[in-house]
Amino acid sequence: MNSKKWSFNTRFLHLGLAIIVTVQLFVSLVMVEPEDKGSLLGRLAYETHEMFGLAALAIVLMHWAWSLFSKADGGLGHFFPTNKKARERIYEDLRSLMSARLPDSNKKGGLVGLIHGMGLIAVTGAAMTGTAYFILAPEVGEAGFLAEGFEELHEGIATFVWAYWIGHGGIAILHHLRGEKTLFDMFMPGSKSNKSARTKIGTNKELEQH
Ligand code: HEM
Ligand code: HEM
Repeated sequence: MNSKKWSFNTRFLHLGLAIIVTVQLFVSLVMVEPEDKGSLLGRLAYETHEMFGLAALAIVLMHWAWSLFSKADGGLGHFFPTNKKARERIYEDLRSLMSARLPDSNKKGGLVGLIHGMGLIAVTGAAMTGTAYFILAPEVGEAGFLAEGFEELHEGIATFVWAYWIGHGGIAILHHLRGEKTLFDMFMPGSKSNKSARTKIGTNKELEQH
């Protein structure tokens, strides 16, 4: 079965995102706000969450810039259907799902691309609302109305990030177990299909034809 190919930059940014967002989610389970006088670990986790969160924002913004300016992996067209043909691909993928078949993971765009796009939006939302809260909330004392609003929003969006992390990671593993080598192609630099992708950077025939 043919494997999907990813450029080096996409794989590099994705690795950063996968690691940092995973750390953010698990650190949030043990962190304690400084004024709550929790354990040292809890307070350290809180500081880590803030620092890694700012790094997450930087990676997310780099990913958007890469997707906006490069066509190597289909650019924004991989995430969002920009024309009729791309929308038809999504309906086709939905029909496959209805008949209990996973959409074809060897093509870019389609339902899989749209879900990746929504995941990227959720992570962007989490990083931006977290940063807004970080800027607006005072070091000591009560947070104002606006800061509290961003805090609530951050917690709400973080739930979607959890859902995406579980769903996306789980389905990637499922595809891999079906023999599609999705994990190797995304995470292993030496993967055969990625080597051939390096020579073809700048083109993505499937999406260009749409
Ligand atoms: C992709 C990036 C991020 C993810 C996935 C993430 C995830 C989470 C999660 C799951 C929680 C726990 C929510 C709950 O208790 O219901 C949380 C809370 C929190 N996050 Fe983030 N976060 C991110 C970025 C940031 C950034 C950039 C900052 C600030 C610099 C930040 C600051 C906070 C704070 C202060 C809380 C605690 C809020 C409270 O005490 O209620 N986060 N985050
Ligand atoms: C919550 C953190 C994550 C985010 C935001 C994320 C986001 C994305 C995005 C946007 C893509 C499309 C490629 C790109 O443009 O980068 C993608 C693909 C992929 N991700 Fe993640 N990812 C995350 C975590 C993970 C984890 C933990 C795994 C491993 C279990 C994983 C495995 C994959 C694989 C295998 C692909 C390629 C799928 C395909 O061939 O269609 N991701 N991810």
